[in-house]
Amino acid sequence: MSVLCPPTSYLPPIAKIASFSVTQLLDALTYLQSLYYPEVRGSRRKRAQAPTFNGGENLCPRHEDDNQLQAIRSDAFERSYSIRWLTALIARLEVWQDLSYSVEVSLDDLGIPEPIFAHTEMIVQQAASLLAICAGVAAAGLITRNFIFSSIDGQRRVEAQLTDIPLDNDDYGSVGAQTWGGACVLAEMVMEDPERFGLDFPPDGPESRRLNILELGAGTGLVSIVVTKLLDTLPSFNHRQVSVVATDFHPSVLANLRSNVNANVPSTHNQTTSTHSITTHFLDWSSFSAAPPDYLAYPFDVVFGADIVYEAQHAAWIKNCLKGLVRRPSDSSISHAAFHLVIPLRPTHAFESSTVESVFLNACDGDPNGDVDLVILSKESITCDAHGDYTTRGQGLGEDVEYVYYKIGWSTNARL
Ligand SMILES: C[S@@+](CC[C@H](N)C(=O)[O-])C[C@H]1O[C@@H](n2cnc3c(N)ncnc32)[C@H](O)[C@@H]1O
Repeated sequence: MSVLCPPTSYLPPIAKIASFSVTQLLDALTYLQSLYYPEVRGSRRKRAQAPTFNGGENLCPRHEDDNQLQAIRSDAFERSYSIRWLTALIARLEVWQDLSYSVEVSLDDLGIPEPIFAHTEMIVQQAASLLAICAGVAAAGLITRNFIFSSIDGQRRVEAQLTDIPLDNDDYGSVGAQTWGGACVLAEMVMEDPERFGLDFPPDGPESRRLNILELGAGTGLVSIVVTKLLDTLPSFNHRQVSVVATDFHPSVLANLRSNVNANVPSTHNQTTSTHSITTHFLDWSSFSAAPPDYLAYPFDVVFGADIVYEAQHAAWIKNCLKGLVRRPSDSSISHAAFHLVIPLRPTHAFESSTVESVFLNACDGDPNGDVDLVILSKESITCDAHGDYTTRGQGLGEDVEYVYYKIGWSTNARL
């Protein structure tokens, strides 16, 4: 277990802030972020109730420093030192900014290191966001978090850095501006067992066929980004064509999704690793027509959805989209294509959650003489510790957050 330093020992001394390099200052900010940024609520799995990898209690291993972290976080002296440090940093950066705007001399003459000047705005933004959080101010603006996921044996590791943009309180549609626990749960499950999610080689069809992956309501893009990075690490996918398409419908959410994808998967990725690509696209389930837009490169073999059923019509709209987008069985072969959906069971949205099971019938309840249909192939309950600081989702802090994972696919006993 590593030892976490309190801010008083880790941060460059306040009196000498001006003499530290941009790399050192950014490192200090990243460290403070790791201490004080709220964790995504309900993102820690406690146990999976269906068969799990170890057959029992499944405590997520990534929080071994928890007790130390909580001790530092709750230490008022450390917090107030961090506030003073951030205030001093912002003041220093503002002085430099003003000086450089007001006089026509070179940055060198002012003693301002060029690299710092180039990053001033970004450093001020990050410092201000941290300051708001440390000071307990609710609206913290942009938050950038580092997520780390590992395979069970620890052999594969994927990191993603995701920015949440501020939620627009007047626009309920902007919920995808932040990362939700459901996306963390789904990404973690995929990392632990990619084969279970159809990310094996090749699930059906010829080896040469491209694997098409879609995410609906991708929000900040966690699942799509983790899946793309995971497939880059799997030797069996070295030569297989893979297309990941992350979609959403809200303009500011879609813009943030693009920016997160670009920050995590360099633009050169799509050209150089010519076999794997990730793209972002507009897709509104409510206005989906029978003919999917060309840019969607359907049919899809694997579709992901995290926390995307919270209004009465969502499940029906999503089913309509899936009918046009998920690879269908043919006369000669069954289709292993599947939609993997994780939803939280919010007490405030019990009806909306229940629509999944009224819209998608259970596989064994399907009509054997009916047309091929999308049905629930399996269902699993997942419990997470609430954690995180988001208190406005209808559940109090300290309570568990319950999720359900549905695997939905084409019924095998119906007529084609
Ligand atoms: C609660 S957020 C979940 C975001 C992300 N999957 C996560 O778990 O972090 C719901 C997402 O569904 C998207 N969404 C809602 N209605 C939609 C629609 N009609 N068409 C497409 N996306 C929609 C929202 O923009 C938002 O990104």
